This record gives sequence, structure tokens and C-alpha cells, in this order.
Amino acid sequence: MNPAVKPLAGMRQLYPDAMAVEEGIAAVIRRVALSYGFEEYDGPVIEPLELFLAKSGSELVMEQSYRFTDRGGREVVLRPEMTPTLARMIAGAPDTPMPARWMSFPVCFRYERPQRGRVREFRQFNCDILGSDSLAADAEVIAVLDGIMRGLGAPPGSYSIRYSSRRLASEVLTSLGLESVMHQQALAIIDRKSKLPADEWRAWASERLGGAAEAVERFSCCSSLDDGWLAERAAPGGELERLREFGGLLGAAGVASASFDAGIARGLDYYTGIVFELLDTGGQNRRAICGGGRYDNLVGIFGGKPVPGVGFGLGMLTLRLFLETLGLRVSGRSGRPDVFMAVFSPAELPWAVEAAEAIRSRGLSVLASLECGKLSKQFREASRRGASFTAVAGPEEASERSITLKDMSGGGQMRLPLEKALEFLETRLGGSL
Ligand code: HAM
Repeated sequence: MNPAVKPLAGMRQLYPDAMAVEEGIAAVIRRVALSYGFEEYDGPVIEPLELFLAKSGSELVMEQSYRFTDRGGREVVLRPEMTPTLARMIAGAPDTPMPARWMSFPVCFRYERPQRGRVREFRQFNCDILGSDSLAADAEVIAVLDGIMRGLGAPPGSYSIRYSSRRLASEVLTSLGLESVMHQQALAIIDRKSKLPADEWRAWASERLGGAAEAVERFSCCSSLDDGWLAERAAPGGELERLREFGGLLGAAGVASASFDAGIARGLDYYTGIVFELLDTGGQNRRAICGGGRYDNLVGIFGGKPVPGVGFGLGMLTLRLFLETLGLRVSGRSGRPDVFMAVFSPAELPWAVEAAEAIRSRGLSVLASLECGKLSKQFREASRRGASFTAVAGPEEASERSITLKDMSGGGQMRLPLEKALEFLETRLGGSL
């Protein structure tokens, strides 16, 4: 193949079968999110660089973004994520009724090394609640996430949602003697722990955190809110208490897959409170399938009043790989037509086109043969395409405004006036569209 024709490494190219699977997954996601009252929005794929410089984190912007100067001399990026766009949109529409529940399916770009679950162009599902600082909002977005996983058929125990809190981390880091300017760096170090071999991580952490590295590691291993070491270092009556309340809300929402894990820090700078990730417990998909958290200071930096926010980004590729690992097949529209319209000769083409439109107007799908010729060949094509019925428009059918219907599951064939044929097909197939 001419190498120039290949797509660039890591770019998104989905053939119809893969697209049907992805759309099937998206349909489940939409259904769950709609049941919580989420509304869909969209934003630009190309954004000014400054939008992300503000708060996303330097790795994402300086090392991973597709950055270029456009023809007007502006420094722009292909969006590496959606949250800053959402924050700007909310800041720009101060009359939006709050709390706002907004969802989107953005395609994003990050110049990462392509590997399993990591590509350079990927689609996410984003789900955010803006304008509420109640813990109920944090719990609701996690309930949506858990509802999506259950809706997709993921069995209990196959995935886990792990949460922590940046406020709790700050309380503990302060008690360890780290000044607040160091907290962001300590969080970035915790975030990398699962991505590096243990020895390498320890050496790297102590280079940056000195004597505090060991205690930071101890903190990152806390997986119970009742851990005595943690209780001694957290602020009395502070975030630990709120996390207990949060656990209670998740329990009330029936979310059994979520648990506390202080090792969840998240790589983006804008998070201010609860942070969480959804992970495959089977270990075959090591990267997070979803990540999110609370960001209370992001909307405010785009002007206007501060608006708190909480939400997540769910990777469609990571999710698809996870479902494949479990052998779960979610399929959208199969592409199988209800009816294949066969045409005897060019003279019957106008009647075939008219009859096909009439069938479509009843909410059924029709794949029309674009070639006239041997009917046996057209029947083979109908069967290859998986049509439920083949309709034949021949000379007699055209003259009496009828069609012959053949049941492709072996149920025989009959010629019916068009109106009767429409009634018959509607009763047998229902409106599939
Ligand atoms: P994130 O953790 O950077 O968060 O990305 C969320 C998810 O997007 C990841 O867990 C992963 O499944 C998917 N993802 C990220 N990078 C790639 C990649 N290179 N290839 C394939 N999938 C990828 C955010 O983007 C936040 N803006 C999420 C958020 C929304 N927080 C609050 N609201």
C-alpha cells in the first residue's frame, strides 16, 4: 500500500461493524444519562491554547497536545479534553438554570505513545453537573457511571470505582509538613505510582519529596476511612467525615462498586475535591476506563461568578476493550435491512423506487438493489445482507401496483397490492427505525 494512504498512528478509524458496537454502547450511555435528566451539548474541536494553559496541567498541554499556529497566526490546539470548554461555555451563559446536568461525546486528541487503550484520537463520554456544591452531585455522577456499567452488563466485581479527595490529601500533606505549594507536585507523584515500577517510583518520589516520600507512600496505600494512621493526620471533623457521608449517599444510590482509595490523585490540576477513577479489576486493561472529580474553581477563571462543577470523562475505547475482555457484545443497529427491494428490469425501476419509499414511510428500512438483472443473484444479495423480506418489483407488479414479498426465513412468498403489503410488513416487523 502507498504509505501516504495509511492513517496516522493512533488516529480513529472505525469500520461499520466497530462503529455499530460503539453506537450500541453510546445508546446505553445516553439512555442512562437521560434517565438522570442530562442534556447534550457540544463544543469546538480546535481551541485557543490559553484555554488549556489555565488549569489542565502542564503534561497534557506542553507534552501531549496537538499544537499549531493557524492561518491567522493564532496558537491553537486540538482539544485534549472537554472540561475547560464546558467551563467556558457555562461562564458564557450565566442565565443557564442551575444545577445544569450536561453531557457530551467529544472526540479528543493527545499525542501519546499508541498502545492498548491509548491512542491519539479518541472519543469520550463526558457527564458533568454544574452549579451545585452538594455531595449529592458527586454521588449522582458516580451513580450515573455505575448505572452505565450495569446497563452494559458488566457483572459486579468486574470493575471498581475508586475515590479519594484532594481536600483530604491536602489535610494529610499539611500534617506531614509539606507546604501547600508542594501539594500539586505530591499529588502528581501519587498519580504516577501505579504507572511506574515500585523501585523506580520510590527513587523518583524521594528525589522530589525528600523525607516526606515514605509518609506520602503510606498515605497513598490507605484504602479504609477507618485507617488509624489516616485518622491521626486528617483534620478533625474535616474531609474524612464528608467522605463517610459520601459513602452513605453512594450506598443509598445502590452503588456497590465504589470504595475509598487514597492512591487516586488524578493528573489534571483543576480538581479541588472528590476525585475518582473506574478501573478493570481483572487486570487486563491497566489504564483507567474513566476519570473524574470535582472542580470548583474552573468556571470562575473564565470570568463571571464562580460555579462549582463535578463530572467525569469515560473513554469509549477503554470501555469497548473492557467489554470485549469480558466477552460482552453490545451491538447497535445491525445494518440489516427489513426489506431488500429487488428490481426485474430498468422499466420497473420507478415502481421499485416508489414502493421502497412507501415502505420506508412506515418506519421500516429498505435496501434497494441498484442493479437490475438476475433475480436469483438479487435474492442471494438480500440473504447476504440479512434482510427479513425481499420485495420484488417485476412487470406484472408494476402494472397492478403490487409487490411480491418473499420471507427470507423460509416462509414462502406472496404477491400483494402495495397497501396490503405495507400493512403486512408493519404487522410482521413493526417500525424498526
Ligand atoms: P482523563 O482522565 O484525562 O480525564 O480522561 C478520561 C478518560 O478518557 C480516561 O480514563 C481514558 O479512558 C480516556 N482517555 C484519555 N486519554 C486517552 C487516550 N490517549 N486514548 C484513549 N482514551 C483516553 C479528563 O479528560 C477529564 N476532562 C474528565 C472530566 C470531566 N473531569 C471532570 N469532568
